Amino acid sequence: MSAAVVTDERPTAPLPSGSPLAAAFDVLASRYDEVFSDHPSGRIVRQAVWRVADEVFAGADRVLDLGCGTGVDALHLAARGIDVVALDVAPQMVAVARDAAAVAAAMTDNGVGSVAVHVADVGDPSTWPVGVSRPDPPANRRPADRSPYAGALADFGVLNCIGDLAPLGAALAALVRPGGCFVAVVMPPGCAWETILGLARGDVRRATRRWRGLASADLGTGRWPVWYRSPRAVAGGLGPAWKLVRVVPIGVVVPPSWAVPRGGTFDRPWLWRAWATAEAAASRLPTAALWADHVAVVLRRAR
Ligand SMILES: C[S@@+](CC[C@H](N)C(=O)[O-])C[C@H]1O[C@@H](n2cnc3c(N)ncnc32)[C@H](O)[C@@H]1O
Repeated sequence: MSAAVVTDERPTAPLPSGSPLAAAFDVLASRYDEVFSDHPSGRIVRQAVWRVADEVFAGADRVLDLGCGTGVDALHLAARGIDVVALDVAPQMVAVARDAAAVAAAMTDNGVGSVAVHVADVGDPSTWPVGVSRPDPPANRRPADRSPYAGALADFGVLNCIGDLAPLGAALAALVRPGGCFVAVVMPPGCAWETILGLARGDVRRATRRWRGLASADLGTGRWPVWYRSPRAVAGGLGPAWKLVRVVPIGVVVPPSWAVPRGGTFDRPWLWRAWATAEAAASRLPTAALWADHVAVVLRRAR
């Protein structure tokens, strides 16, 4: 099967289009890969996420990518033979992801999974298109396998943009098979790089903004709330169907992309190689989650 791009489906409820968050990511969409995904720091932290995802989703048939952005993770999973259904609230992000999937489909033949991308609010399952919950008739499956997804991924802060995780947790519990995993990569309430760099610049507010657990972001389209959460808070918020099984710190040693301008003093290939090596080692220390920029929280759907 070759990668395929699914056409528009009407969502079942109105989306918060025009919200400051959706507008901000719409504006960012065309530059997102340049400033983050293709930045050396972004590549290193995404590799760290993929080490977790590739292990957790080995052998998976279909996975949800929640808050997919430009679709980098969706294409990575599809290249491993997984069918991916991806959601994002920002229509321009969805457009970029669909274009990327179309290009990938044109360049590959067999052995890769499909990529279907929809505009939807991850935090409000009533906005998810009907096809997300019923991607194919389950009649040919054993009753125990009738849930459509082997697992789900929400990479790089998507859940930090959602206040109440319970509706998402309940919707995923209905869609992911018992024993399947949800990998949620979230920003925790402490981040050493942010504190050190904030203090070094005399910006105490920036240095400490995560500590209160609730802050706001503004990329020029208005403010929206951001919830910084510990792995336990993520698990608790998703509800009893989800058991916390593993915590992997992401961005422990490597500085965030915003801290190292391209072409600047610290943008040196040898330095990135050293940071990548150190990052791979540091991500094996669960306690480093206390000061990492992100944490990959692996949750298992209770049987
Ligand atoms: C930092 S980007 C991460 C994108 C992608 N997961 C990645 O790994 O590059 C956060 C993404 O989450 C999306 N997002 C934030 N809140 C959302 C929500 N409630 N529903 C759907 N998408 C959301 C944004 O539009 C944006 O594309």
